[in-house]
Amino acid sequence: MGGEPVIPLSLAQIAQITGGQLTGPPQALVTGEVVIDSRRAGPGGLFAALPGERSDGHDFAAAAVAAGAVAVLATRPVAAPAVLVPDVPAALAALAAFVVDALPALRIAGITGSSGKTSTKDLTAQLAERLGPTVAPAGSYNNELGHPLTVLRADAATQNLVLELSARGVGHIAYLCRIAPPRYGAVLNVGHAHEGEFGGLDQIARAKGELVEALPADGAAILNADDPRVLAMASRTAARVVTFSAGAPVPPSLPLSPSSPSSSLPSHVPQPTIMASGIRLDDLGRASFTLLTPEGSAPVTLRLHGAHNVPNALAAAALARELGLGLADIADGLSAAAARSRWRMEVHRRADGVTVINDAYNANPESVRAALEALGHLAQDGRAFAVLGHMAELGDTSPARHAEAGEFAAGFLGPALAGLIAVGPEAAPLLDGARRVPSWPGEALGVPDGPAALAVLADRLKPGDVVLVKASREVGLEGVAAELLLEVDR
Ligand SMILES: Nc1ncnc2c1ncn2[C@@H]1O[C@H](COP(=O)(O)OP(=O)(O)OP(=O)(O)O)[C@@H](O)[C@H]1O
Ligand SMILES: [Mg+2]
Repeated sequence: MGGEPVIPLSLAQIAQITGGQLTGPPQALVTGEVVIDSRRAGPGGLFAALPGERSDGHDFAAAAVAAGAVAVLATRPVAAPAVLVPDVPAALAALAAFVVDALPALRIAGITGSSGKTSTKDLTAQLAERLGPTVAPAGSYNNELGHPLTVLRADAATQNLVLELSARGVGHIAYLCRIAPPRYGAVLNVGHAHEGEFGGLDQIARAKGELVEALPADGAAILNADDPRVLAMASRTAARVVTFSAGAPVPPSLPLSPSSPSSSLPSHVPQPTIMASGIRLDDLGRASFTLLTPEGSAPVTLRLHGAHNVPNALAAAALARELGLGLADIADGLSAAAARSRWRMEVHRRADGVTVINDAYNANPESVRAALEALGHLAQDGRAFAVLGHMAELGDTSPARHAEAGEFAAGFLGPALAGLIAVGPEAAPLLDGARRVPSWPGEALGVPDGPAALAVLADRLKPGDVVLVKASREVGLEGVAAELLLEVDR
């Protein structure tokens, strides 16, 4: 991000669109990016001042203007030209909706789900770029702030807008869809992420399905046929339904046990539109498969690690197909696509032969399970260590979900799991879960923090071992993965 041209808007227009009060020159034109971090403000830009946890954006208004911003979107007068509004996020939404209205040829694709939105968004964007100029969020810009900020980067040259939509409650995705109405929408899965806020999987399905409810009749709803709650969303859309299947249904309502290698859909469900057949993983867990589409089939080899990226790739393929990309380009593009957002299944092999999986961006029950499956694959016949911090926002079910994840780790990996290291008190139920597997011979260790986890590993790691590092964002275990990679150089 940074420096892209946007649709030029005068301060008078911005005041009109947002219903704000102008305290600057009406003719001044915003021609640069809209930012919420004053350090990213640049020539011609607009700085949106937000109250932060530690600091208030209003205090940085003058700095943003000194860096070139034309004006500030603010809730109270600042020492700079400003448009004063009662609610800055709502004003950003109004501006973003205006930009979408001004670009009727823009093709908008939205992606939601409990896990894999960013991975799928990054894949879809890399495919869409083959068709023409594409705007997609950086990282995980998927909420009421990141979403309009992303939309505001679109301009007259933009052909495709690929958006990630997140929800922490019912109505959130509907709100994002009103800002930038998608024609194409993919729902990846319904899992336990943010279960605490939602109060259950049915509520989560209700919220995620708002994406397909927002689609027009001439659009397409891309649904994961392997997730019954997602497939059921077919009845909630006016759009044409396109399904995809990687062939291994894993309904999250089932207890966390090793997933069945394959299973067929009930007979009344039609054949999925987009499928993967013959999925194989290389020794670093990268999937190869045959992509099956109504237009024919083509071989794909992903550069992303973990079998869970196969459904993500199929969703991306289905979206790109709707955007107009041909089969050969889809297969080629998926095989060329790199991980654009960090700390998701990054696999590094140290000079001493220890492999580190840095999946520390985030964690929820399904993504922990997916990462443990990848850990098992990478460890092959060697030893695996899992360094797991807690999964946040699970509400009352948190201890039980952690115990289930620990039980899955010990049960699925068995003797290959030499050590399960739970970081912090909220992760401790992982250990109880692992101990429920009586035949598991590994060590269950609780440590208070990342440095303590590193100390435990330093005494144990040997060449050939594989270490997974994963936790919710707030635990910030990426530092542990980084240290592990440095250690070998000391
Ligand atoms: N289809 C999937 N099923 C299970 N886990 C997945 C899937 N896709 C990605 N993951 C894992 O989930 C974690 C988050 O991935 P990603 O950032 O793509 O998801 P997200 O939905 O954007 O998350 P967030 O809600 O934090 O924005 C990573 O650990 C990743 O390996
Ligand atoms: Mg994300």
